[in-house]
Amino acid sequence: MPDHRRFALVWAVVTYLALKYLHVIGAMVILGTGIGIAFFMLMAHRSGVPDFVARTAAVVVKADWIFTATAVAVQPVSGYLLAREIGIPLSEGWIVASLALYVVAGGFWLPVVWMQRHMRDLARMAAAEGTPLPAAYHRLFRLWFAFGVPGFGSVMVIIWLMIAKPVW
Ligand code: HEM
Repeated sequence: MPDHRRFALVWAVVTYLALKYLHVIGAMVILGTGIGIAFFMLMAHRSGVPDFVARTAAVVVKADWIFTATAVAVQPVSGYLLAREIGIPLSEGWIVASLALYVVAGGFWLPVVWMQRHMRDLARMAAAEGTPLPAAYHRLFRLWFAFGVPGFGSVMVIIWLMIAKPVW
């Protein structure tokens, strides 16, 4: 094999592996941050202590912007480049299904970010006034949980689709 062909081949493999590495790290960040946020919010909520809830929600809001938002922005880019690298069209069934679920997950995640900010503010107010968490907080928490299930569920299904790449 001529040198320039060998170099092109090695370059293609290195690019593919680098993209896949980035893509899998992105998946871990989305999944890990999601599980972490759900766990810490639930623990703070169960304590019923407004100051603890307020501080946890404040950190959670930051974590969502730093980790989830970054990974959510990078994931379709690395995914698109991966598909191009391995030569499969975006019209492939499992990719179309994943993209649709990605929109569903985003549709549930965006209101969740807003809810977390609002829960943080309500908990801060209760902590400052020395009152228990208000009814509005508890309503929001139930909604936050209800939105989290399909949002997170969609991510779980995407991961399965990405790994199994089912043909239909
Ligand atoms: C949003 C658009 C996305 C596109 C276009 C896309 C595209 C792809 C492609 C083409 C592959 C195959 C790489 C290969 O096997 O060589 C792949 C793998 C993978 N994707 Fe995605 N992806 C997207 C989003 C996601 C999301 C949101 C997650 C999880 C949160 C994810 C998790 C994974 C994982 C874990 C693999 C590795 C599977 C394996 O090696 O068996 N992807 N993706």
